[in-house]
Amino acid sequence: MTLPSVYYNNDPTSFAFSTCQKRWPTIVENMVNDIRQALVENCSSQDFLTQGETIFARLSQLLLDIRFDHAILPFEEPSVPGLASYDERIAKLETPPTWLTAPWLFSECYLYRRAHIAFVQQPLWKDYDVFNRLKQETFKSSEAGVVELAVRYQQLHAELQHEVSVESLKLLFREFADISLWGNATDLSLLANATLEDIKSVQGAEARKNSEKNILANDLDAAWDQLYNKAQDKAHRRVDIVLDNSGFEFYADLIFTLFLLDSKLVSKVVLHCKTIPWMVSDTMIKDYQITIDDLNSKEFFPTGREPLEFLARQLEQYKASGALELQDHEFWAAELDYWHIKPSETKYGGAEVHRELAKSDLVIFKGDLNYRKLTGDRKWPRDTPFITGIGDLASSGLKIWSLRTCKADVCCGLEKGKDEELSQIWRDQGNKVGELWCSSGKWAVMSFSNGQN
Ligand code: F6P
Ligand code: MG
Repeated sequence: MTLPSVYYNNDPTSFAFSTCQKRWPTIVENMVNDIRQALVENCSSQDFLTQGETIFARLSQLLLDIRFDHAILPFEEPSVPGLASYDERIAKLETPPTWLTAPWLFSECYLYRRAHIAFVQQPLWKDYDVFNRLKQETFKSSEAGVVELAVRYQQLHAELQHEVSVESLKLLFREFADISLWGNATDLSLLANATLEDIKSVQGAEARKNSEKNILANDLDAAWDQLYNKAQDKAHRRVDIVLDNSGFEFYADLIFTLFLLDSKLVSKVVLHCKTIPWMVSDTMIKDYQITIDDLNSKEFFPTGREPLEFLARQLEQYKASGALELQDHEFWAAELDYWHIKPSETKYGGAEVHRELAKSDLVIFKGDLNYRKLTGDRKWPRDTPFITGIGDLASSGLKIWSLRTCKADVCCGLEKGKDEELSQIWRDQGNKVGELWCSSGKWAVMSFSNGQN
């Protein structure tokens, strides 16, 4: 089969086009502003100031490089892990790619690596998360949704102390998977387009109910069957979640995790995090402790104290017992698509990741970027079956369930004619390119592959 091309930044019909022309400059400007603020807040150390100014200059240069469509150059930084695959990819091209014409997935990943390098080289800033301030502000402003879910969780915890039928368990699985799915609608890299009000409007139970019809491919039954009936060792089921955004989405994923463990559906949940600040809001291991501290702080969340502290305690107990584990790996911040998750990919970590995920009864990939990497960010006709779109992953043995609100062009698994229907609706709403319905974040997919195709 000839593979479809990937999406490129200079395609005006792709979401890549406005992303690189408008969203990236805004994101980098926000980084520069964050540094400016950090310098004001910590002006007592001369070394901190000098190093911060160097970062400031490098990020300002990055902004110019994007705006003026300069070449994307190799890193050539052998001492910094995770960069070799980028350099190798650039070396394979006859001419260097440029910011506004390069393949979208590659250049977007490169952007966050390029920004990160500026920090790594300054000892006093090497662990600084330039997105932390924004992550925290947005999480704090989600208080209503956060408390609503904590109350629901506490009620569920009480229900689960009694015998629960399999049917009820499956209904609860559906409810908490839904919460986790729509948590993905609150990704901060879209803040350039969305208001906080927009974000809050997708966080409550009511909003989730209204959005049910917007799930265009829903393999929940198959994912449940895999986990409940087909697990190798039913007494020790394991779920892995390849996380996406910190803040409300991570909180929703933690609640899903608590449900899985409290109900004894699984005995272990492994959460996979990024190693560097990534795509604005993605979760790093350190964000777990920050989340726990936020939940435990009455200054941060003045309302809902009892359910929030209860929830934090439950998480900490599972973490202490090893039932909840957090891992990170450089591979998740590579530009490589997930077709590289295979035993033969020994150079960039694909084999290690495969070995780990193969231990799982269900691997849940959260969010849009993970979906783009699963499907290679290719121009698949949107009625292509999901198991075709994920290439060799479909026969990798991995049980993959992707929970994604659609925020980019690539999409598989739709019924015939659905793409045309939604494109028409989108045009009728005054949008020039109908196909861009798929980048609006209003629709979602929950697609499954059992790894045995
Ligand atoms: O801008 C590119 C992109 O990957 C979009 O596809 C998406 O809007 C965002 O960044 C990340 O989304 P998510 O946090 O859901 O992976
Ligand atoms: Mg993200």
